[in-house]
Amino acid sequence: STPARIALIPGDGIGIPVTQAALRVIAASGAAVETVSFPWSCDHYLQHGRMMPEDGIETLRRFDAILLGAVGWPARVPDAVSLHGLLLPIRKAFVQYANIRPHRLLPGVEGPLKTRDFDILCIRENTEGEYSGAGGRVHQGTPDEVAVETSIFTRAGVERILRFAFEQARGRRGLLASVTKSNAQRHSMVFWDEMTDLIAAEYPDVAVTRYHIDAICARMVMAPESLDVVVASNLFGDILTDLGAAIQGGLGFAASANIDPTRRNPSMFEPVHGSAPDIADQGIANPMAAFWSAAMMLDHLDQTAPAARIMAALEATTASGIGTRPGRDSTDAITDAVLARLEG
Ligand code: NAD
Ligand code: IPM
Ligand code: MN
Repeated sequence: STPARIALIPGDGIGIPVTQAALRVIAASGAAVETVSFPWSCDHYLQHGRMMPEDGIETLRRFDAILLGAVGWPARVPDAVSLHGLLLPIRKAFVQYANIRPHRLLPGVEGPLKTRDFDILCIRENTEGEYSGAGGRVHQGTPDEVAVETSIFTRAGVERILRFAFEQARGRRGLLASVTKSNAQRHSMVFWDEMTDLIAAEYPDVAVTRYHIDAICARMVMAPESLDVVVASNLFGDILTDLGAAIQGGLGFAASANIDPTRRNPSMFEPVHGSAPDIADQGIANPMAAFWSAAMMLDHLDQTAPAARIMAALEATTASGIGTRPGRDSTDAITDAVLARLEG
């Protein structure tokens, strides 16, 4: 078969070693891919004044998928510049409206909870909401200063993410948790609740429960086994999925897929974590999230056998005790263990 064309954006900090390791794992999985790497990052910004070239989106459009490490080096480039110059415009331009983030424990990995018994799929709205960028500041630097950040929720945007989540729930245990803060936010979140009820009528086989974001944060810790598919707005989904990462053993295990379900544009795959400046260059970044994200990418590209081989190798690795305690095993040691299981 013709190889899938992958645009690799390693980015900053630990994004670089974990994507390099992921490329080796993809190669060993037997996947048919060809990769072109783009050095778009905070370094690129400092050299060229832009996170990516002006035609960066048009360049990426020619690929079947994007594999990204992490973006951001806040000591040298403000996050609002780096993320709005690379990661967020890609999600938006390619209408990657569904950000899929699975939270479960790989065998042998010790999470902070007493239970191992949870399997949660977070579906995060990924193109609008609290990340719309609308707003501004007036009277800057004066006692009268006001900063406004406007969340924008469109009917089309809310409807498509809810439908996507209902479909996912239908293919799993049939439970959908819809997350809002409609007790305090009376426009967007009441609208979200109404849309949930409207669409729920078309999915009598899915049991919907509404949660407020604060209550579901507590539930994710106290009773994570009661959750199946969780759908949330951009910001709430962002926060919930770092919590999800924590209960699955840490940020180094949490994978994500930024999907355009229409398949008109390339989708993007990346760990949930960032560039981790505090551990960059120490050789101890956990690459599991990058590997899992790569498996999600191959699955999306209909290369299901190599994707399954990667997941089996990750599970065999952690089941043998390697990579179960982040910080103890190096990035290279974990990568070698996964490669051995793919090649052996
Ligand atoms: P972070 O996820 O980079 O790090 C949070 C904590 O988790 C740190 O202590 C870090 O060492 C640890 N950690 C993260 N990934 C790890 C891994 N694979 N193995 C072991 N430990 C890991 O979050 P942050 O510190 O808030 O952000 C750092 C930078 O990354 C910022 O510029 C931020 O904006 C950016 N960021 C980018 C993305 C992305 O590109 N998708 C995601 C989140 C944060
Ligand atoms: C994530 C990240 C990004 C987000 C940041 C870096 C803008 O935290 O992918 O979870 O909030 O979407
Ligand atoms: Mn996040």
